[in-house]
Amino acid sequence: MVTNTPATRPANPRFSSGPCAKPPTWTLDALTDAPLGRSHRAAIGKDKLKAAIEGTREILGIPADYKIGIVPASDTGAVEMALWSLLGARKATMVAWESFGSGWVTDVVKQLKIDADVKTAEYGQIVDMAALDYDTDVVFTWNGTTSGVRVANGDVIPADREGLTICDATSAAFAMDLPWDKLDVTTFSWQKVMGGEAAHGMLILSPRAVERLENYTPAWPLPKIFRLTKGGKLIDGIFTGATINTPSMLCVEDYLFALDWAREVGGLEGLIARSTANAQAIWEFCDRHDWIANLAEDDATRSNTSVCLKFTDDRIADGAAFAKAVAKRLEAEDIALDIGAYRDAPAGLRIWCGATVETSDIEAMLPWLEWAFEAEIAAQAQAA
Ligand SMILES: Cc1ncc(COP(=O)(O)O)c(C=O)c1O
Repeated sequence: MVTNTPATRPANPRFSSGPCAKPPTWTLDALTDAPLGRSHRAAIGKDKLKAAIEGTREILGIPADYKIGIVPASDTGAVEMALWSLLGARKATMVAWESFGSGWVTDVVKQLKIDADVKTAEYGQIVDMAALDYDTDVVFTWNGTTSGVRVANGDVIPADREGLTICDATSAAFAMDLPWDKLDVTTFSWQKVMGGEAAHGMLILSPRAVERLENYTPAWPLPKIFRLTKGGKLIDGIFTGATINTPSMLCVEDYLFALDWAREVGGLEGLIARSTANAQAIWEFCDRHDWIANLAEDDATRSNTSVCLKFTDDRIADGAAFAKAVAKRLEAEDIALDIGAYRDAPAGLRIWCGATVETSDIEAMLPWLEWAFEAEIAAQAQAA
């Protein structure tokens, strides 16, 4: 039993699942080159936006014939744009195993009222991706941020599918291999694995998605911030840095810094290795302790970014209150901030392991987790 507080503290207690920790080398000075007070349509602004697009392509290995756009309203904006612009041309399959995926189901079924097959799984589990009909448009989340369950790989997605695959990859991009040939629409936001700033979404379109956009007009009206085509043609400017509306050049500068940092740590491979080392430290901690376990039931689908944990000790009387109390103790000690499970998820903890988190900080935090657990078990016994 641990009673004394551990000797080592994490240098950075930021383990939030979004906004996530800034890159370790980040300081506010990193933003001094931002073209503030200038038009984003001036050459200097457009060049920065283009560099953000092409830097994304370079680091993520996105094929040259895919379009990458910076769009309003963060990842939600990018997903909504895709759903409202593309769906309705054929039947849809909506796939969800946690809160964000469920949100997209609601949108498509209740708001757009599209004919859809809805496939869901409980928190900790995943829908059988091999059993889906890929001749329908399939909408899914690569990494369920609130359950810590991810798609293992894209092997089951057929190359010759007739439908589009629309993938919310916001907590996966830059930490997991994304099979671009299997993804027609991919979205993410800057504040997750790259530790960027919120507000802007990234929308990545395969040639087949562009073809759909240019040949299909939804039956419903589209507001200006969702519109990707004009006169039946893709608005190319969106994908070269002429954004639909005004972006924050401070956020763009910050993202450019994050892309530079990604190059320094070895590009995508380095980023994935950093995330996996972080998650591995937690997985091994779970293996060594019988009172805590990964929420993900199958090791092949456990996330290396949003690691979700559940307490499994049968002495715990009220699971939700216990998990909250442990998170509160760690927050009060400035050891781990914002690690409570997502509000709709089962009681437990969620520890962000994305690339900007240092493995040494995860390793320094874990003995404190044990300390907080023991302290709370003792407090519970005393109160009884
Ligand atoms: C899987 C997933 N989708 C969508 C969102 C919403 O992202 P944003 O706040 O960037 O719109 C989140 C945020 O955590 C997420 O994890």
